[in-house]
Amino acid sequence: MTYQFSVSDFLKSDEEIYSCFSEELKRQEYGIELIASENYVSQAVMAAQGSILTNKYAEGYPGKRYYGGCQYVDKAEVLAQTRLQKIFGCEDNSSHPYAANVQPHSGAQANMAVFLAMLSPGDKILGMDLSHGGHLTHGSPVNFSGKLFEAHHYTVDKSTEKLNYDSILDKAKSVKPKLIVAGASAYPRTIDFEKLASIAKEVNALLLVDMAHIAGLVAAGLHPSPIPHADFVTSTTHKTLRGPRGGIILSKPEYAKKINSAVFPGMQGGPLMHVIAAKAVAFGEALRPEFKSYQKQVLLNAQQLAQTLISKDIRIVSGGTE
Ligand SMILES: Cc1ncc(COP(=O)(O)O)c(C=O)c1O
Repeated sequence: MTYQFSVSDFLKSDEEIYSCFSEELKRQEYGIELIASENYVSQAVMAAQGSILTNKYAEGYPGKRYYGGCQYVDKAEVLAQTRLQKIFGCEDNSSHPYAANVQPHSGAQANMAVFLAMLSPGDKILGMDLSHGGHLTHGSPVNFSGKLFEAHHYTVDKSTEKLNYDSILDKAKSVKPKLIVAGASAYPRTIDFEKLASIAKEVNALLLVDMAHIAGLVAAGLHPSPIPHADFVTSTTHKTLRGPRGGIILSKPEYAKKINSAVFPGMQGGPLMHVIAAKAVAFGEALRPEFKSYQKQVLLNAQQLAQTLISKDIRIVSGGTE
């Protein structure tokens, strides 16, 4: 990916900051980035993010704002919401409708909104251990999720280094969590959301799937979807989904009101309308056929990388990747 216009001439008058941009541009274009949580957005996503929409305050939701002059940003937010639903096949008129909230400033805040909407401090949660591939917000003691709630963890199996659904069920039965968090930051295998939903059902827990890393693969139909199994699906928008930095929440309709109130006014003030517009642009891109080819290539590249490393005697956790 070559960015032709990413270091705007408008920045040249501030030499100090301009050099940060131009040096970073070189770093991105001449290095090989192997950080799984990063991506290169399209020029259109970048243009939306650096746009006049940054000027607009729009506390509230489309049609119900606390500021005047929101008629155009309302349209952008509704586009982001409906495109997001369409990507994951959960439109209002589909057989599995999920409500979309596109306002979380980040993936961590999307998770926080679900916790704050559905749990009380001290409630039990069960998530994947950080050192086994989970994320900080899945109950790590250094994060709000582990400080505010009684966090318990499941791990990968010692010998296979894969999730063992029987032992997750045993753990869930002994902990009796109010909410189970599925999803990972570092897990190279397919996750069985249907099984996790049946575990949650058996112990009467809510299921939150944080699909941050695999959202693009799910969008392209290359990883099983957490919809309709999860009560809540959160994601970042900047990893495989290839959008601007940010978060999203899809929730079963009965929880939509609580989720919306948890995001605003619960945790955030004005939504970042330029980022929401950039999310709409990225979601539009994810709906195009080229996106599927791109995601197929992501899978092939990951498998090729794993095979090449294995052939050089480098051990891959769990022996490979799907
Ligand atoms: C699974 C998962 N959830 C949430 C996040 C947090 O996203 P953010 O950095 O946007 O807060 C990450 C980030 O890497 C992640 O991997």
